[in-house]
This record gives sequence, C-alpha cells and structure tokens, in this order.
Amino acid sequence: MRQTDHSSHQWPGIVAHYRNRMNLVGNARPITLYEGNTPLIPAQRLARAIAPDSDFKLWLKYEGLNPTGSFKDRGMTAAMTQAVHDGAQVVICASTGNTAASAAAYAARAGLRCVVIVPEGKIAQGKLAGALAYGADVVNITGNFDQGLALVREASERLPITLVNSVNPYRIEGQKTGAFEIVDQLGDAPDWLCLPVGNAGNITAYWRGFTEYAASGDAAHTPKMLGVQAERAAPIVRGEIVRNPETIATAIRIGNPARWQEASAALDESGGHILAVSDDEILDAWRMLSRLEGVFAEPASAAGIAGLRARIARGEMDVRGTRIVSVITGHGLKDPAIVLKESAQPITLKPDFAAIQDYLFPK
Ligand code: F0G
Repeated sequence: MRQTDHSSHQWPGIVAHYRNRMNLVGNARPITLYEGNTPLIPAQRLARAIAPDSDFKLWLKYEGLNPTGSFKDRGMTAAMTQAVHDGAQVVICASTGNTAASAAAYAARAGLRCVVIVPEGKIAQGKLAGALAYGADVVNITGNFDQGLALVREASERLPITLVNSVNPYRIEGQKTGAFEIVDQLGDAPDWLCLPVGNAGNITAYWRGFTEYAASGDAAHTPKMLGVQAERAAPIVRGEIVRNPETIATAIRIGNPARWQEASAALDESGGHILAVSDDEILDAWRMLSRLEGVFAEPASAAGIAGLRARIARGEMDVRGTRIVSVITGHGLKDPAIVLKESAQPITLKPDFAAIQDYLFPK
C-alpha cells in the first residue's frame, strides 16, 4: 500500500491503492476523499427470505458508505484526478442526483467550479442537498436525464468544460475497483453479481474489473452479471429507447443509457442476464434490506436484490451452492421522502410512564 501524507495506517483511497491497475496519468496527484474500502456485508437472513429452501450465500457491497453516499465517488476520484492534472477549471455533469453530489464534492476538494444539470423535481432530497452544500452550480432542467446528458455533451464539446459523466473513461477506471475489492474481500469472484442499471456505467466498470482480475490471475473466474432495470425505464431489456422513463427509483430513471453497448457486451460475455422489475418489487426488496439486514439503501440500490428475487421465484436461476454479491449503490439517507411516504408514521405520547406502558402493553 502506498503511504499517504497523513498516516501510513489510513486507507489511502482507491487511486493510491489501485493505481498500478488504473489507466491514469502516472504522476497525477490524487484528488481523494479516501473513498472505497467499503464493507462486503454477509446477508443470510435476506438470502433465506428470498429463497427459504436454498443454501446460496449472499453479500451486500455497501457502496452507500462512500464519502458522498454512493458508488459514484470511485469514478469521481479518478475523473477529478485526471481532470486537474489536465488543467481543467470547470467540470460539468448531468445527473439523477448521485453523480451531481459526488462531482460537487470532489470539485470542491480540487478547487474547481462544478456545474450540475438535474431533472427538475425528479432528484431525491439528499442528493440535491449534497450538491448545494458542496457549492455546485445546480441547474434544473425541464427535461429528463437523457436530455441533460445530451446537453452537457454539447457543452463540453463547445466550451472549455470537462465532462465527468461516466462517458468520461476515467470514471470507469475508478469504478472498476469495486470489482477488485469484492474479489479481495471474498478471496475470489462470486458466481453472480447483481446490480441496478441506469446509464450502464457501473455494469461496464464492474465487468472490466472482474475480467482484468481474472486475466492477471488475481481471480480464478469471472461472475455472471445480473443487471436490473425498472419496468418503465428498461431500454436495454426492451431493446429500444424509452422516451419518457418513469420509476420511483429516480436514480435509474433513464431511457437511453450512454454505455448501452458495453453493458450488452458485459451481459453476453459473462453469460449473464438483464431483467426489469416493477416499482413494487423494488420497494419490497428495499424494505427487506433495511428490516432484515439493517442495510438502509435508496430504492434504486435495491433493484439488484429485487431482480435476483424475481428470477429465483420464477425458477429461472439455479442458485444452489452459489455465492452471490449485490451492489448496494447508494445510501438510504439520500431519499428520506420515500421512507416517510412508505412507512408508518411515529405516534406521539405524553412524556409519562403510564402512557408508554399503555402503549407497549395495552390492557
Ligand atoms: N444506483 C444508484 C444509486 C445510482 O445513482 C445510479 C446512477 C445507478 C444505480 C445506476 O448506475 O448509471 O452506472 O448504470 N446514477 C447516475 C447519476 C445516473 O446521475 O447519479 P449506472
């Protein structure tokens, strides 16, 4: 492990830790918030709830524990490190929220101006709050993510601005380290990797990470990839662009993924599968994650589990004896509104013992 300027015991962040495996300019100074090194949490209660008669093992790669609360920080440290090295002054992205918060934080750390384009009213509160707190220029558009992405692509071509969406190759280089960590933690690749698919950068990145580790002999095999989209925002599953994508999982409310081809290649080459799940299935899985395992995710992050559960229930997947990892892409605190909408409200009592006794042990 490379030494950092603070302490040789602290995790140095993913650029310093995995630099010799990342296609980054060699001497660029890392722009880091010490992201990565997230836990792989065993989830046997959830596994048994999904498939009571099965013996498969399940782990959650809890990416919500990154500095800004999502996996985007892995890609952003790499993209920002390279951008600063290349002399960028301004960075821009379109986002359903998490990329915006991450870009804003890393830009703040590097002293760059950050502009984020978000679909008005369709971004979860915690993400908007993050982007604003880190001091980004937040621009709402009266359109969706796909329109925002087209806009920032044009802006970065015609203006002196660096694009930090996952079309930026360094984003993928950073995000592939999630795969490295899983193999490092598990001792080998799992049999399946389940994850939500929106703009398709993350499935592209994980597949690259797993194939590189297998090629270097650090993993004995590669996993099958299980991609999951929301029913009304499932362009890859349907094989056509969705003009007006909708889902409660606003993070993956995307109708024309930028990395569509690479995602298809990852699914083919891995022998994997992509499916769509309903918003109700996503919310069921989201509840199970927090109530059975204490892992609070944002709704989109539960899509991987929802997809796994649906396939097992339909008898489409023989999971006997397998090891499965689901990537929990973002923290539950990103989207407090959905919790308040979907949960029972707290009751209010007088502050005295009789009141609490009557409530807990009604006569
Ligand atoms: N899960 C969460 C929590 C996300 O924020 C995203 C994407 C995904 C899954 C899907 O990943 O796009 O690489 O397929 N969020 C982007 C954003 C689009 O703007 O924050 P993907």
